[in-house]
Amino acid sequence: MWPYPKVIAHRGGGTLAPENTIAAMQCGLDYGFHAVEFDVMLSKDGVPVLMHDPIFGRTVSSEGGVATTLAADLLQMDAGRWFAGRFAGECVPSYAAVVRFCQQHGIWMNVEIKPVPGFEQETGRAVARVTRQLHAADALLPLFSSFSFDALLSAKGEAPGVPRGLLMDQIEPGWLGALQEIEAVSLHTNHKYLTAELARKIKDAGYGLLCYTVNTPERAAEIGGWGVDAFCTDRIDLIPAEF
Ligand code: G3P
Ligand code: MG
Repeated sequence: MWPYPKVIAHRGGGTLAPENTIAAMQCGLDYGFHAVEFDVMLSKDGVPVLMHDPIFGRTVSSEGGVATTLAADLLQMDAGRWFAGRFAGECVPSYAAVVRFCQQHGIWMNVEIKPVPGFEQETGRAVARVTRQLHAADALLPLFSSFSFDALLSAKGEAPGVPRGLLMDQIEPGWLGALQEIEAVSLHTNHKYLTAELARKIKDAGYGLLCYTVNTPERAAEIGGWGVDAFCTDRIDLIPAEF
């Protein structure tokens, strides 16, 4: 049985707020979402922060990238203005700040560990360590996910009690062995490549199945019929949290 929420606000607030910011988490909450997915990578000095792209330019208007920038500088960078003027001043948040926000508001987290290439193990370890330190005993444990097998393996070493889901854009032949090796609870995949048959195989093997990024109620209903347990959505305005 899937113990987590079924509908998850992608990057915090989907398309309605600047991704991976506290404002995005607040936006999800305003739309009734108590489940969120976001992306975490490491600063130069090893501090986990929320960011999707390793190189600046799209959401942060600067030169360089996350792995060569100190956390103190990252946390002052504007990550809201690109989206809309009213979000100017919304800065890159630390993972710790977002965990605290989610704890305060009873938001469950699907933490996507998104290492800058070359920093897979460090990122898995650091995210797991911060999670272990900050986890509130009365809260539902977050679910880690990553496209990086190595990051998940390192997260497992550091915080074995935090469940893990392996992300695969398209489900590859070795999926079952990979899930077994990291003792994952779920497989996370792009709904565009999923078939009813593949979904059945994953469910029959006893794993949770999460899809991204599902943006119409029709598609959500269709894959729900295939046994998909949960999905991330950008359209928190179209798909209700209690879908
Ligand atoms: O975790 C699901 C999804 O967020 C993976 O893709 O690129 O949106 O982080 P991306
Ligand atoms: Mg993501």
